[in-house]
Order: sequence, then C-alpha cells, then structure tokens
Amino acid sequence: MDQNQKQTLIQKIRQLAKEKNAVILAHNYQPPEIQDIADLNGDSLELSIKASQTDADIIVFCGVRFMAETASILSPDKTILLPRTDAGCPMADMITPEDLNAWRAKNPAVPVVTYVNSTAAVKALTTICCTSANVVKVVNSLKEKEILMAPDRNLAGYAATQTDKIIHKWEGFCPFHDALTPEQVMAQKKAHPDALFMAHPECRTEVLEIADVIASTSGMIRIAGESEKTSFIVGTEVGLLYPLQKANPGKTFYPASIAMECADMKKITLQDVADSLENLAGEVRVPEDIRVPALASVQRMIEL
Ligand code: 13P
Ligand code: SF4
Repeated sequence: MDQNQKQTLIQKIRQLAKEKNAVILAHNYQPPEIQDIADLNGDSLELSIKASQTDADIIVFCGVRFMAETASILSPDKTILLPRTDAGCPMADMITPEDLNAWRAKNPAVPVVTYVNSTAAVKALTTICCTSANVVKVVNSLKEKEILMAPDRNLAGYAATQTDKIIHKWEGFCPFHDALTPEQVMAQKKAHPDALFMAHPECRTEVLEIADVIASTSGMIRIAGESEKTSFIVGTEVGLLYPLQKANPGKTFYPASIAMECADMKKITLQDVADSLENLAGEVRVPEDIRVPALASVQRMIEL
C-alpha cells in the first residue's frame, strides 16, 4: 500500500468512527499505524478502565480476544469489535474453566487471582483479576494467606517476591516473554553498559532477578520518560519500542531480544479496522451467564 492509499484508508476509518460514534482502543504492542489511528492507547489495565468509561456506542478493540472480552464484560450495552477475530493469546489458552474448576474443588478455601490474559469463562470462576500493573496491590488486597495465581507462573513468581503470601502457581506462560534468557539480557547489557534494563513481569524469574526495573508496558513508558538514563534495554514484546521511542525521541531503546514478537498482536491491519467498522464485523459478546460472574472479578480489580 502506498502513502496515498494509506492516508485514504486512515481518513475512511476516522470518518466511519465519527459517523458510528465508535472509539478505537489500541494496546501498546499493536503495529505503529494502528497505535497512531487509535483514540486511546495503553496497557491492559488502562484499556480496561478506558473501555468502562467511554460513552461511545462501539468500541473497536485493537488487541487480542481477551481484551475485547473484558470490554464486553464491562460494557454489555456497547458493540465490541475485534477487527481480527483470530487474534488470541496463547497464554490465555493455557487454562480452561474445567481445569480451574477441578483445582477449586480440591482447594475450596483458596481465592483465585487471575491475570486479565485469560478467557471470560475463566474470569467467571475467579475471585479477583489483576494485570501486570496492579498485581502486587491485588494480591495484598486479599485477606487470605494462601492464594492461587493463574495462568502466568512468571507473574505469580514475581508477586511471590513482593508479598508474604503463599502463592500457588498455574503452569501457564507467555511464549515470547518466557523465552527471554538471562544470557540474552547479559549480552545486551554488555553491548550497552549504561542502559537501564526494564523487564515485564511475564519474564522468567532469572530474568527479573537481573532487571533494573519491573513494570507493565505503560509503566515502562512512564519510567523511560522520568529516568535520567538516556538508553534502555526493553524486556518485553518488541511492539513497545514504537510508543517508547515516540514518547521519548531523544532516548535510545534496544530490544532485549528481537525474537519477542507476538504474532497475534500483529494481526490487525488498517484495512481490518476499516472493514470491521464498515460492516460491524468481528463482534465479541460475552454471554450473560459468563459475563455476570466475570464482571465481579474485573470490577473488584478496577475498584481497588
Ligand atoms: P500490559 O500492557 O498490561 O503490561 O500487558 C502485557 C501483555 O502481554 C498483554 O498481552
Ligand atoms: Fe499473550 Fe504474550 Fe501475546 Fe501478550 S504478548 S497477547 S501475553 S502471547
């Protein structure tokens, strides 16, 4: 697509969004042109809060399915569109409601903290949700000493270092964050000795142990802006390099590993957004019998 065609498509999207009273949300890992046409950008927590507050009739969610489901859980009267219905999250698929129910049956007194990277059906069986931005606050909000954290074992491992709770870990993980090794990080640290290493809590414990800071995607954007450092090694999905660089044009960002690219987060194109808005295609609607119990766990998190 040449520049003229791209501009025409962007104008079409803006026009359709205006006509249909739609708001476009984009996660920080989305392709640059998608982040640029969005009305609102952010990490998972920011996007769920923004999705719950908008008065638009339609939310176009540029992210992956669990994010669109969360918007549907919070806004049942709105139309939620996911421009590519095949954009999923491999980590979210590492736990099923059946498996979680079986665990809960054996441990009825243990509350369940579920990462938002999970299906609506799993959220419906959850005490409270969390994101990478609020995990410690969420865990500490529970009175019980013992909890289950699902589905991310690495996020659970990080939370365990920040609280005195006994944390049972579900054995799920993000294939891209979990693949980052301390050796890869050390090689980047050696190449850029003055850089601050920022790691996402979805990374393995051995990687988090050598991180200078641990933060969500928007947390990293804030930290990079506030830091006196001028260079950073970014331990998360490579899509974050774009908003980091955009917000901090005078600073330099190096990926911890260029292999940290989530294929699902890269599926949505400008054409998909235009088609979805034009035809109201890709609607995601969580059925009421799942939405109502799932809402309780998401709302408990948002109200903290
Ligand atoms: P955050 O933007 O909330 O840190 O989420 C990371 C992620 O992996 C989303 O899929
Ligand atoms: Fe899921 Fe990882 Fe992709 Fe985020 S980056 S959507 S956690 S697979």
